[in-house]
Amino acid sequence: MKTLIKGGTVVNATGTAHADVLIDGETIAAVLAPGSTLLGFDIERNVDQVVDATGKYVIPGGIDAHTHMQMPFGGTEASDTFETGTRAAAHGGTTSIIDFVVQYAGENILDQYTLWQEKAAGQCAVDYGFHQILSDVQDSSLSAMDELINEGVTSFKLFMAYKGVFLSDDGQIVRAMQRASENGSLIMMHAENGSVIDLLVKQHLERGETTPYYHGVSRPWQAEEEATHRAIMLANLTGAPLYIVHVSAKQALDQIAAARDSGQNVFAETCPQYLYLSLEDQLGASSPEWGEFEGAKWVCSTPLRSKNEGHQHHMWQGLRTNDLQVISTDHCPFCMKGQKDSGLADFSKIPNGIGSVEHRMDLIYQGVVMGEITLPRWVELTSTTPARMFGIYGKKGVIQPGADGDVVIYDPNGHTSIGLEKTHHMNMDYSAWEGYEIDGHVDTVFSRGRRIVDDNDYLGRKGDGAYFKRGLSQYLI
Ligand code: URP
Ligand code: ZN
Ligand code: ZN
Repeated sequence: MKTLIKGGTVVNATGTAHADVLIDGETIAAVLAPGSTLLGFDIERNVDQVVDATGKYVIPGGIDAHTHMQMPFGGTEASDTFETGTRAAAHGGTTSIIDFVVQYAGENILDQYTLWQEKAAGQCAVDYGFHQILSDVQDSSLSAMDELINEGVTSFKLFMAYKGVFLSDDGQIVRAMQRASENGSLIMMHAENGSVIDLLVKQHLERGETTPYYHGVSRPWQAEEEATHRAIMLANLTGAPLYIVHVSAKQALDQIAAARDSGQNVFAETCPQYLYLSLEDQLGASSPEWGEFEGAKWVCSTPLRSKNEGHQHHMWQGLRTNDLQVISTDHCPFCMKGQKDSGLADFSKIPNGIGSVEHRMDLIYQGVVMGEITLPRWVELTSTTPARMFGIYGKKGVIQPGADGDVVIYDPNGHTSIGLEKTHHMNMDYSAWEGYEIDGHVDTVFSRGRRIVDDNDYLGRKGDGAYFKRGLSQYLI
């Protein structure tokens, strides 16, 4: 199948250009001056389909480098399967995800990796890769890290919170970092001080403070800043590159900026929820159905931060100055009924997570409309840098000859109302983003040359998406 996308504005991280894009089979064959011929050869008459993108942006497909499809967590499992979650991603202009293989303490890492490959195989609408979560760092974990790199799993997430579930102590973290500094992989860190949080949770519950708001209050910015600083110091000690996930506190971002300024290989992402949603939104949330428990819809970790403390502004600023390089979703959806409601009497029992995989490209495009970031920066944060950071750039993250035909046609004159259960494709009984209006619209989505979304219609098939083996981070020497 040969496709010519004609008349649009191609947006790469490097800038914009009026250009036609020729996709041949699964690959971009050429990026051409509008209406050009190839040595007298009339391209338009020799392709199978011409798609008119006049007045629209033609961008590389989004890459969401932090998702948790069907993740077992908090006594339940994230409600999106690889099938439903990746279909929702496709609708939102995301054509690649990097999900997390979970290892709980005592589990065999390589067995878990095989299990996750089995879960995803034949299910996905878009291409996918994996990071590996390490929960207890044993001798066998270190050799597993080396083996997984050969499988294309080149980044490892550790947790400084969730004692007894995911938490690694500092000694375990240092061991994993030492190995990463030898084998070139990237350590991703959930940076919150778990012991402090566990104590505060206990104290709030003892005082009868059980509503979802106290989830946020018991995970203060100091716990994020302290853990971020500690992670940076441990990475400094070992020489390991470090990527801090889901940054929400401005003080944590300041630690990251200082480390980067000193020349350390420290990278970081934030997520749409930390750019738009706040602790006050959670406190004020109430509904006839759920009362104050409505706030459970926004229980995630790191938590939403107070609007009055300037965190959101600081995140946008960090995105502009490149102290933050990536925007992921940390998509980890749970339904209110039958999942989040297990915490009705105790906020600490609410499974942590928000679902946004379908809305990331739109929500961050709105940042362009609001004047927070430029168009190329939108593409850089949501596609190009995730590709470079996680070793898939060239194939993904750019519109250029030889890249995969992962292309999104985005209409800046379109409109997207993000809303209720019925209008999204994620397997959730609510939306954390209800009422958000976007001045743009994902019109058409190509995944490796196949048109999989057209005007809100899904044209793809389960299993279209393929596993990609990743190389080492392209930001590291
Ligand atoms: O609330 C969150 N973030 N849930 C997913 C697990 C994690 O820490 O990323
Ligand atoms: Zn995390
Ligand atoms: Zn996560």
